[in-house]
Amino acid sequence: MSSPKRIGILTSGGDCPGLNAVIRAVVKCANRRGWDVIGIPYSTDGLIHITEGRYRLEDLVLREHGYDIPGILQGLDVLQFLSGSILGSLNKGHPENPEAVAKILEGYRLLNLDCLIAIGGDGSLDIMYDLAQRGGWNLIGIPKTIDNDVPFTEKSIGFNTAVQTVTSALYDLTFTAASHDRVMVVEVMGRDAGHLALHSGIAGGADVILIPELVPELNPPIITHICQEIAAMRQRGRKFALLVVAEGVHGEGGEKVHSIGEYLAKLVANRSCTLCQTGDANYCDMDQVETRATVLGHIQRSGTPTASDRLLASAFGRKAVDLIEEGRYSRLVVWEAGRVRSKDLAEVIGVIRACHRQGICPGPVETDSTMVKVARSLGIYVGPELELMADNVQAALNVWEAGAQVS
Ligand code: F6P
Repeated sequence: MSSPKRIGILTSGGDCPGLNAVIRAVVKCANRRGWDVIGIPYSTDGLIHITEGRYRLEDLVLREHGYDIPGILQGLDVLQFLSGSILGSLNKGHPENPEAVAKILEGYRLLNLDCLIAIGGDGSLDIMYDLAQRGGWNLIGIPKTIDNDVPFTEKSIGFNTAVQTVTSALYDLTFTAASHDRVMVVEVMGRDAGHLALHSGIAGGADVILIPELVPELNPPIITHICQEIAAMRQRGRKFALLVVAEGVHGEGGEKVHSIGEYLAKLVANRSCTLCQTGDANYCDMDQVETRATVLGHIQRSGTPTASDRLLASAFGRKAVDLIEEGRYSRLVVWEAGRVRSKDLAEVIGVIRACHRQGICPGPVETDSTMVKVARSLGIYVGPELELMADNVQAALNVWEAGAQVS
């Protein structure tokens, strides 16, 4: 066994379910090796506060049995069941101010750590990597995000629970949609990526799933296609519909819209009327289409972590500790082809930075991925097939132009 180590751990960026399960796994694995784990509160802000003497270092030590609850449940280890982060998190971007950076580096030095485990998404991993380079820190990254957009890993902590949360919201909305013959539009988080919308939309029985990778903007032909889908469903006897839209989808002219869910709901309601007014019999009951929008918001970042997220958290936490034991630093723990592995952080951060410079998502849904194919095969509308797009778009544009003249 290697000499005892002292490792730090922090959570950075937007919180998500499963963070505490990672912390728990790291503490358990490290304590069993006789190592100390220091929990750094509020990410880099905590390091600043350490430099300013606002914490007693002994209070930051995390121990396996530090979370017992009293009474007959004493000893119950609740940490992996709890959402959020016991360490708190920080979503403020890179500390630009040189004085703040100097305090962060000094705070880290005072902790006298052998290595830091940073649990973060693409943005926070980038920041932590930069600081590690400046301070000469040994760094291990663990990916977490409900957006699932960290490159080189098929899964990130929190994604599975968020999929479950959105899926159950879709189930709940189905019955009120059906009772009123309504079109329910559900806006789902994910930043610039559509993984959360796509996975939960399929699992939740959506009729339409719009993700930025396939439908970057809600232009008139797309809205017309959606109305045609709704009309066809009505003709088959299904009077209600569930439309899932990822927050990364943009407005008609490619502009970022405040609530894309509400925007889509209005467009569908308006267009369904104009389609009917064109005189096409297929759309004759479309003027009765009533839409409602639900923006799920931050509820997607909470909820009891699923078993799948707890397993991933346990596996990622263990791998991070193993990497430290082996002296393999500057690695990102990843899930690849059914196994926990690690990637060179320099390579991962290179990809993240190049994507951010070009304003593109570093871990988007691949347009020919299994789940996109599954959605299409199930008859879920996810946008026009590329090879069909030209004809379909033109045909839809004609309908739109006719409708626009009427209104
Ligand atoms: O990256 C996670 C995420 O929840 C995104 O899906 C969402 O766009 C964003 O964070 C919301 O950030 P905030 O908590 O700052 O509102």
